[in-house]
Amino acid sequence: MLPLANESCWCGSGRKYKRCHKPLEGRVLKGVVSPMRSVPDHIEKPPYALTGQVRRRSESAVKSPDVIARMRRAGAVAAEVLRLAGAKVKPGITTEEIDVYVHELCIARGAYPSPLNYQNFPKSVCTSVNEVICHGIPDSRELLEGDIVNLDVTCFLDGVHGDTNATFAVGNISDEDQRLIQVTEECMWLGIETVKPNVPLCEIGRAIETHAKKLRYGVVKAFIGHGIGEQFHTDVQILHYYEPRNNMLMQPVMTFTIEPMITIGSDKHRMWDDEWTAVTIDGKRTAQFEHTVLVTDEGFEVLTAPNAVSPKSPFSN
Ligand code: MF3
Ligand code: CO
Ligand code: CO
Repeated sequence: MLPLANESCWCGSGRKYKRCHKPLEGRVLKGVVSPMRSVPDHIEKPPYALTGQVRRRSESAVKSPDVIARMRRAGAVAAEVLRLAGAKVKPGITTEEIDVYVHELCIARGAYPSPLNYQNFPKSVCTSVNEVICHGIPDSRELLEGDIVNLDVTCFLDGVHGDTNATFAVGNISDEDQRLIQVTEECMWLGIETVKPNVPLCEIGRAIETHAKKLRYGVVKAFIGHGIGEQFHTDVQILHYYEPRNNMLMQPVMTFTIEPMITIGSDKHRMWDDEWTAVTIDGKRTAQFEHTVLVTDEGFEVLTAPNAVSPKSPFSN
């Protein structure tokens, strides 16, 4: 039997149940996280896969033609895995089941699911439900009609990463949530459309923030886009709000992600005690979209565009 609100919590913390484990009305309930899955030996693994420790190396922001060719393939695989996983989203499926599916889809395409053991992240995809801003850990919780869920897929193939995410509706959702998802995707595209050589990186954030603020949404500042290539995260920082000091100029053959997180209420977060799951402080909902982009001579190329067809796709799943 659960304790009453003012009784001490069942977990032994000594705190009142209502101040400890009592689930808040309407908030996402944490489920059980299953043991880490393994990846077959024939799949090439990033250096952190064994240890869980990420050691950053210096990596040029501009890439060689060979790296770009490989990033197109990794990006195409990530895009396809995201599309297939998104098609599984419906009431009753658990985020754990989505994780298993993503894990197998990556392996079937010769890719390593980049989140797995990245700084000890225990699963192969991030699944962020409702008020979860990002880095939700797949668990035994079933998706419920009316939820929204972000799936953040990153694939490591041929020594490079492709990173993309989208927010999906679980069955019928409210107009308010539908609008949040739509505006968030618009914000991502407005950010992407600024990408062109000699434009300062801060123009990305300016475009995103201007659109969100006009429609009275919040922009999360604590999590940002990043350079990407042979490493999942490099030191290039992509802010989703306007910060004029972020004035490095975009150059041809740079690669980075644009991944705005937009909120209905507060843009501030707190962490669950799993030290991964970031939720809005007020429990209001949030959405995110992400692409990996390449700066070209004329503008941009989206490396994780959904129309890209990955090498093995006709023969697997
Ligand atoms: N894919 C996320 C991003 O867009 C990072 C996830 S890190 C993980 O940068 F460890 F949680 F997987
Ligand atoms: Co990213
Ligand atoms: Co991502």
